[in-house]
Amino acid sequence: MRKQIAAANWKMNLTHPEMVQLMDQLLDNAPSLNAEQEVVLAVPFLYLEAVRQRLQGMSGYRVAAQNCHHKTSGAFTGEVSAPMLASMGIPDCVIGHSERREYQAESDALLAQKVDRCLEAGIRPIFCCGEALSVRETGTQNAFVAEQIRAGLFHLSPEALSGIVIAYEPIWAIGTGKTASSAQAQEMHEAIRGVLAEQYGAHVAGQIPILYGGSVKGSNAAELFGGADVDGGLVGGASLNATEFRQIIAALK
Ligand code: 13P
Repeated sequence: MRKQIAAANWKMNLTHPEMVQLMDQLLDNAPSLNAEQEVVLAVPFLYLEAVRQRLQGMSGYRVAAQNCHHKTSGAFTGEVSAPMLASMGIPDCVIGHSERREYQAESDALLAQKVDRCLEAGIRPIFCCGEALSVRETGTQNAFVAEQIRAGLFHLSPEALSGIVIAYEPIWAIGTGKTASSAQAQEMHEAIRGVLAEQYGAHVAGQIPILYGGSVKGSNAAELFGGADVDGGLVGGASLNATEFRQIIAALK
């Protein structure tokens, strides 16, 4: 069975004391996971080491960066590379979140390079895709997302592709309280798996966890995760509340 993953994306939230409090609440009698389940915390660079230390020895709990640079090193002031993350024991990195695609103008070609830098460093990319409302309104969302997947990932070998996680996050559902219906999520996830299967075969496609993101909450997680191709969630706002996020963890298959 492929991994079922509850991933938190804290984005640019939480001061240090708030982070410590959230970790205390989350890890006090922390939810135990079965062998197929994971909890991933994608946190600001500054907190990676502290969170990594807190999660040490906790089976299935992983820390993730929210971004990395597309080069390995050099004169890029303010940036953080994949080899740096790897050298600090960071196993995962979110790549291509829609907020970075939009606000930092990250292109598909740039994201393909970031995926490569992660994989070279032994970091598992959590590759984000998803359409804007204007795309969904024209009914072309499946083709749009398929193109993001092709452009970002299809240069990979089957072995390399097997090591990634995909997160489908419709932009119109992010931070809006307006979640995709479980049927809309399942339909897109099935389509993404179909695109992967066409290129890499059903066996490889069947191994890739595909997470849903966009206004996932404790109250809707179980329904969203019920879809056969929905392997958990990438959670923004609700991951900042320990009670909510613990409900989301409990909703994993
Ligand atoms: P929200 O859960 O706040 O809608 O954010 C989703 C997201 O962007 C996670 O990466």
